[in-house]
Amino acid sequence: MKVILVLALLVYAEARIAIENCNGTVVHNIKHEKQVLKSNIRSPYQLAIDYNTNTLFFSYSSDDPGLTFDSAYINLKTNEFKIIKGITGGFANAVDEQGNVVYLGGQDGIYQFDYETKVATRIDGTDHNIWQLFFKKDLYYSKYPEEEVYIFKNHKSHRVPELAGTRGMLVAVDNFDNIYFSNSSGLFVHKKTKDYTYFVGDYNINGFTHDINGELFFSTPEGIYYINDKSKKVEKLTSIDNLYGVAIEADGSIIYASEDSLVRLKPTKTYCFSDEKTNL
Ligand SMILES: *[C@@H]1O[C@H](CO)[C@@H](O)[C@H](O)[C@H]1NC(C)=O
Ligand SMILES: *[C@@H]1O[C@H](CO)[C@@H](O)[C@H](O)[C@H]1NC(C)=O
Repeated sequence: MKVILVLALLVYAEARIAIENCNGTVVHNIKHEKQVLKSNIRSPYQLAIDYNTNTLFFSYSSDDPGLTFDSAYINLKTNEFKIIKGITGGFANAVDEQGNVVYLGGQDGIYQFDYETKVATRIDGTDHNIWQLFFKKDLYYSKYPEEEVYIFKNHKSHRVPELAGTRGMLVAVDNFDNIYFSNSSGLFVHKKTKDYTYFVGDYNINGFTHDINGELFFSTPEGIYYINDKSKKVEKLTSIDNLYGVAIEADGSIIYASEDSLVRLKPTKTYCFSDEKTNL
């Protein structure tokens, strides 16, 4: 067994360059380099990528003392950064890729972003204080401080029936219509086929996201996790301290938010022995 493993690693080494005990950030045994996309930004939160335009939307704590939160975006090709006007307390972001709509959540309802004017316009139908948005066939949102989960459709809101009797702060839906949600008790999933809610784990989740294929990921203050579509198991991808959120680019690169910056993890050619690294 050991011999086979060593041989396998040697073959891998030739193909890949070096095998080390890596310092730094390791994802799936590959060492990753940090590329800072934006620094000096306070607590960037709730990241969402529009794959049609390669744009990362997020909210952050405003520098303006009169405001609480601002919505902003970064063009992932040009690194152009812009604060979005027209929204009060912009906090949540989600993209309907098929419909080409960018939704933003503020303290008084849901907004739509216009790429031409770079302004957000409020959509009639709800004046709820939006904590989080997630788009999967429908637009899901959670309401603060009640921790109620709704679907917003045709200018109307209704409670997600499966979650009507429970609290949900963050919500995400997978490719099989299973609804993942978190509250202060941890992470839960409502399984579509069984029509039953299961406890997944005691995670202190601060952000859900999906990749371009609809697979789910989440972050906690200390790491990035992947929800394996097939096994339904949670896999830890990497440990990073003081995480605020995560998004996955079209090519699979991880973008994460730290206390004061947005960072891309770029794979290098270095193979590492241990998956779980020593930290940054
Ligand atoms: C890894 O980090 C340790 C302690 O921080 C340091 O002593 C060592 O030289 C580093 N190794 C590499 C390959 O950078
Ligand atoms: C979180 O959700 C689970 C599943 O619905 C529920 O049992 C639990 O009471 C909720 N926690 C809180 C603090 O409401």
